[in-house]
Amino acid sequence: MHKRHSWFVSWGETRAKLELEAHLNLNVTIHEVGPRDGLQNESIILSTTDKLAFIDRLVASGLTDIEVTSFVKPRWVPQLADAQELVQRLPVAPGVTWWALVPNRIGMERALEAGIPAVATFLSASETHNKKNINRTIRESLVAQTEVITTAAAEGLRVRAYLSAVFGCPYEGDVDVAGVLTLCHALLDAGAERISLGDTTGMANPAQVRNVLNVLAEGGISMDSIALHMHDTRGAALANVLAGLDCGVRVFDASVAGLGGCPYAPGASGNLATEDLVHVLEAMGWDCSASLGGVAEAGAFASEILGKELPGRYHRYFVGSCEKQNTLNVG
Ligand code: HMG
Ligand code: MG
Repeated sequence: MHKRHSWFVSWGETRAKLELEAHLNLNVTIHEVGPRDGLQNESIILSTTDKLAFIDRLVASGLTDIEVTSFVKPRWVPQLADAQELVQRLPVAPGVTWWALVPNRIGMERALEAGIPAVATFLSASETHNKKNINRTIRESLVAQTEVITTAAAEGLRVRAYLSAVFGCPYEGDVDVAGVLTLCHALLDAGAERISLGDTTGMANPAQVRNVLNVLAEGGISMDSIALHMHDTRGAALANVLAGLDCGVRVFDASVAGLGGCPYAPGASGNLATEDLVHVLEAMGWDCSASLGGVAEAGAFASEILGKELPGRYHRYFVGSCEKQNTLNVG
């Protein structure tokens, strides 16, 4: 009798859980940053044609949001100096949103001239990193970002804002969460559709991610307005994303094969690898639109054109097993 009772209780709980899950949104959006965050940190400068071939493979994988380049000062990031030409040669890809990074008014003018439909602004939650990365104080950058966001919105472009070094700064160490909250409000009030919280040098841990997201939620920031941009420097990016998923975040930045890094943040290595993220999300029943095989092919192609091994875990497994079977076809 007792057994039967507990079976009823546990079935009741299970059914309630299933009903709840049926009402939950099981869609996750992956914002692919390989062509931008990835290639900006490579010593080799790819041709525009090679970049476009890489982007073609990302599109073929089913990714819907792809950050293709940045309109920063070419002398600061020569790897992406061909931004104008690249954007003008992008393929027609229904259902795909092309994004580009924009630091200031000059970058915005170049982006509009090129015809990009969506832009991402950026500043840092740490004063020193902001100065090193964009040569301005946070206050000055906020003025510049507000102008970019307002212009983008007036021109009918989508616009997101990155906030870097949210979980720790390679120059300053701990970063004040209250300051992060203030900056999030300022960027959202300016008209950004989402803030991508950057763990620029992979300093975060899952408990900290939960804590920061709780502070933001209690401070009035909806998790629908948040994305997570986790670099995998210390191997915790996937765990950090899963903590974010539990807290209600549904947009995650990633980079195929774990490409990436910020040239102006010492120790910044690759982003969370898209393959690792898709692999785990799929296995957990989440729908992220991209196919695992497709992103793995794109990652293998990136490794081929860069002529080097890349760090993503699933990527390495994929390349290794293809080599064993001699079936890798990245040409
Ligand atoms: P500055 O030297 O202070 O620029 O750089 P300025 O405003 O004093 O202007 C000086 C000259 O630069 C002028 O030309 C401007 O026209 C030109 P001159 O009169 O001397 O001939 N200029 C530009 N040219 C082209 N495009 C522009 C532009 N702006 C000015 N947009 C600036 C300030 C912000 C431009 C510079 O510091 C810069 O480009 N920094 C970008 C650094 C960067 O790209 N870092 C990596 C991306 S951020 C990242 O990876 C983090 C992220 O992934 C999130 C995370 O991981 O946390 C997003
Ligand atoms: Mg980054």
